[in-house]
Amino acid sequence: MADTVSVTRQDGVAVVWLDNPPVNALGHALRQPLHAMLEKLRADADTAAIVIACKGRTFVAGADISEFGQPPKAPSLPDVIALLESIGKPTVAAIHGNALGGGFELALGCHYRIAAPDARVGLPEVTLGLLPGAGGTVRLPRLVGAREALGVIVSGKPVNAEKALALGAIDAIAEGDLVAEAVSFARARAEGGGPHVPVLKREEKIEAARNDLDAFEETAKAATANARGLTAPLRCTEAVRNAILLEPSQALAREREMFVELRDGEESAALRHLFFAEREAVKVEGVGKDVAARPVRHVGIVGAGTMGGGIAMAFANGGMRVTVLEVGDEALQRGLGQIEKNYAGSVSRGSLSEKDKLARLARIRGTTDYTDMSDCDLIVEAVFEEMGVKRKVFEKLDEVARDGAVLASNTSYLDLDAIAAFTKRPSDVVGLHFFSPAHVMRLLEIVRGERTAPEVLATALSVAKAIGKTPVVVGVCDGFVGNRMLAARREENEALLLEGASPSSVDKAFTDFGWPMGPFQMVDLAGLDISWRHRQSQGLTAPVADSLCELGYFGQKTGRGFYRYDEGARKPVPDPFVEELIEAKSRELGIERRAIGAEEILERTMYPMINEGARILEEGIAARASDIDVVWVNGYGFPRGKGGPMFWARRHGIDKILARLEYWHGVTGKPVYRPARKLVEAAAAASW
Ligand code: CAA
Repeated sequence: MADTVSVTRQDGVAVVWLDNPPVNALGHALRQPLHAMLEKLRADADTAAIVIACKGRTFVAGADISEFGQPPKAPSLPDVIALLESIGKPTVAAIHGNALGGGFELALGCHYRIAAPDARVGLPEVTLGLLPGAGGTVRLPRLVGAREALGVIVSGKPVNAEKALALGAIDAIAEGDLVAEAVSFARARAEGGGPHVPVLKREEKIEAARNDLDAFEETAKAATANARGLTAPLRCTEAVRNAILLEPSQALAREREMFVELRDGEESAALRHLFFAEREAVKVEGVGKDVAARPVRHVGIVGAGTMGGGIAMAFANGGMRVTVLEVGDEALQRGLGQIEKNYAGSVSRGSLSEKDKLARLARIRGTTDYTDMSDCDLIVEAVFEEMGVKRKVFEKLDEVARDGAVLASNTSYLDLDAIAAFTKRPSDVVGLHFFSPAHVMRLLEIVRGERTAPEVLATALSVAKAIGKTPVVVGVCDGFVGNRMLAARREENEALLLEGASPSSVDKAFTDFGWPMGPFQMVDLAGLDISWRHRQSQGLTAPVADSLCELGYFGQKTGRGFYRYDEGARKPVPDPFVEELIEAKSRELGIERRAIGAEEILERTMYPMINEGARILEEGIAARASDIDVVWVNGYGFPRGKGGPMFWARRHGIDKILARLEYWHGVTGKPVYRPARKLVEAAAAASW
């Protein structure tokens, strides 16, 4: 293995090169030789200045996240940074690619920072349930001001070189060769003779923050308003407040304590699990690096309804040319009008510029003529969820699409293999199951049919990346991963109502767990008619929901559903009429009502879902338990800080879940509680 740390010299400047592919993470294999090298250079009279630069595609992208679960090994990153800061000669970080987390903290330990024009710097630790634990919360406020630092730290969002320069986080943007410019910058500083003030000793901006604590508290309040039960954003705020109020050494010590506390806690374990889970999910059996994706520049969308329009926007936002097809001109104009309205909404909310809106709209055109799809590289069908309708579309697409075009269905439930069989090219057919609103939601279930070709899957994965989606490849079954598990939970939602719970008591148990909303609020938002139609097609009933649908209560869009909604409002108001209707149904069905607590609500909704997840694994519909977590966190609002249903189950105890499933199976006899074979095995192994 090549050395992870090496040195080159130019006129008294030592360039310390870090080389730890793929992202130069600061694991022990890098920290230890870096520390030793800095010790050597400190003592070396011929070294007047030091530049830290990285080989490969990026500067240091952070601490090595995979080391966090293991016993720490010295030297720690704060040790390395402390040595760097006390080295007694000017130090310069030469940043290309990403300087993130511990990587940016290493750069903050240098006296100066120079970045390539396309570099980014940031402290994304909060997204991993952490705070910057190597001095970031104490040094960054000294460089850019406490309120600005708070914005960077609590959002976790990296900033580009231009913004970093404006903030004062870097000293210059290189115009030519980054390392050559960093070397001449370092030499000039060495010749200038100093003083070279370490960032930790710069007090001006801290002084200013100390004199205006009210403004800081106001920013802190706004920054953590969306913390949604997560601890890390609050600790980040506390750490920056400490940077203002405490001596630097005390603030650093407290930062480290809080970092260790968070690192060893459940929230960070869950968020780190998701970091790796999302990267694992794109590794798909049979789709190795040797399988080339087909290029996709022009995308056709069949159907300009809510889903079709959202999907069109997702591709246009990703820079692709889009042709949207509808059967009639009126439906087409309505669909295009809605797209325009959605973009205008983003402009008025300030999340999109007028210029970008126009550029995106210019990429979308409408048609009612299938032959306009003939040069599309990918065509996504998003029409009514009915096999006969899908058949007509795919037969038509088979006629007009060019050879090699990928044909995708956005079906949520239907059999993709049957859809593929409507064409003479089933190996080109794949499912692309978007989630509403499709231009916003990150999840994309990529459905692998029996005959879907590896290049077609590779194309779907590459397109997903290009449009910023988080893909998970799933097999064919009713509802795939997400909706199938949702169905297992849904059956019990109704049962809980009939046995004594109310929509609001069920929803409260969910929001207390960390979900953004409960199942009844969610159905009201999505529309009761959608699941009603699905139940009808499956010959299923749900006494309460069916009665509401028969009354035309479809949820928010009709102002009534499981809740009442005041004109134009989205806030659910408990509806005595619905509660009476539920009680009447209980009487009619001879069910005795009783008090039902939050624990029972969670057991009877989450456990069948997890059990169904186990069946999904057993059948190979999902390749790994972590794929299921990625689906639930990105598509269904499962609280990120709990890592997804399968991760949560493992931490909570699969054996405990098994025991309660057996109990509820005994009480109710319902198949959703019958433990899956895979769950029984996992309970014994304490892991999926
Ligand atoms: N530790 C360990 N592994 C890491 C890593 C890290 N910090 N960052 C990336 N990797 C791994 C990924 O798991 C992936 O591995 P596989 O190829 O085996 O799947 C590989 O590096 C490449 O990563 P990506 O697929 O994400 O590559 P990309 O080019 O799409 O993105 C990136 C590059 C923007 C740097 C992205 O990897 C990223 O955001 N990394 C994490 C950055 C981060 O959160 N840093 C803070 C770490 S915590 C910290 O530093 C604590 C502290 O204060 C001391």
